[in-house]
Amino acid sequence: MRRILVTGASGATGGAVLQALAGRDVTVRAMLRTEGGPVPGADETVRADFDDPAALDAALADVDAAYLVTPSSARAAERQLRFLDAARAAGVGQVAILSQLAAATDSPVRFLRWHAQVERYAAEHGPAHTILRPNLFLQGTLAFAGLIRATGGFGAPIGDAAVSAVDVRDIGEAAATVLTTDGHLGRRYDLTGPEAITHTRLAAALSAATGREVRFADVPPESFAEQLRGALPDWQIEGLLEDYAHYRRGEAAGVSTAVPELTGHPARGVDEFARDHADAFRG
Ligand SMILES: NC(=O)c1ccc[n+]([C@@H]2O[C@H](COP(=O)([O-])OP(=O)(O)OC[C@H]3O[C@@H](n4cnc5c(N)ncnc54)[C@H](OP(=O)(O)O)[C@@H]3O)[C@@H](O)[C@H]2O)c1
Repeated sequence: MRRILVTGASGATGGAVLQALAGRDVTVRAMLRTEGGPVPGADETVRADFDDPAALDAALADVDAAYLVTPSSARAAERQLRFLDAARAAGVGQVAILSQLAAATDSPVRFLRWHAQVERYAAEHGPAHTILRPNLFLQGTLAFAGLIRATGGFGAPIGDAAVSAVDVRDIGEAAATVLTTDGHLGRRYDLTGPEAITHTRLAAALSAATGREVRFADVPPESFAEQLRGALPDWQIEGLLEDYAHYRRGEAAGVSTAVPELTGHPARGVDEFARDHADAFRG
């Protein structure tokens, strides 16, 4: 039976991939960075750090396909390149690489440059792969949940710009399809929600789902950075500001049909996301 390695198994998209693979006719191996108990949806677990080449080799033994995600740290590209080298050496037939919508080597957004570097390396050196380029995650809004519970509102430097934010569950299902069906090698898919939404629209969806008014305020980049200071390292705050400037310029508003095509159902929208996560915002 086809064996699929899922990296980032304790994370947002890795967890969604595991969930989407459950019930499919494959053996699922979850990769964990640290010691952990059984992972829901996994048949096997393996412990490996992206910085430990020997552990990666062991994790990739007898693997037919893999889902690759790393946190968006300054070392993301280095870690992903190491994983791609190890996968190629292990004879893995396909790696589904989690990238980001609009990845480009000349982007002013560092995360988009790092993702583009990985995409280019995979194109030039292999292994055979599929690129998944999601837009902003709707689940990213959960980072504001504490603030919304405490103050009834949240802010971001995005103005009235619309973003076709995607539900992480759809990323998981799209990845599961490309890893378990034919015809996806060498392909690249933009993964978006069904429409581009403003943060004001997001706040309205949260208000309707929670039964309490949730306000959104456009805030200057400096105050947004100040809110995050201490909670995140400086480079990550700077990267997020670049991301938000990119959203504000309207560069992440395009809607793709890849999610419905890969999953067989319409992409989940902001109202469904808000309904399914209302408790987190209600407290
Ligand atoms: N957030 C967005 O809106 C957005 C949009 C588009 C693209 N993206 C891309 O999505 C990616 C992040 O995906 P995600 O949200 O699924 O990540 P995540 O929830 O932060 O999960 C990261 C996973 O990687 C594991 N990990 C961390 N360091 C590791 C290491 N050294 N070795 C092995 N495993 C390690 C973590 O394990 P532990 O639990 O043990 O730490 C965790 O399972 C980034 O590349 C980002 O650029 C994000």
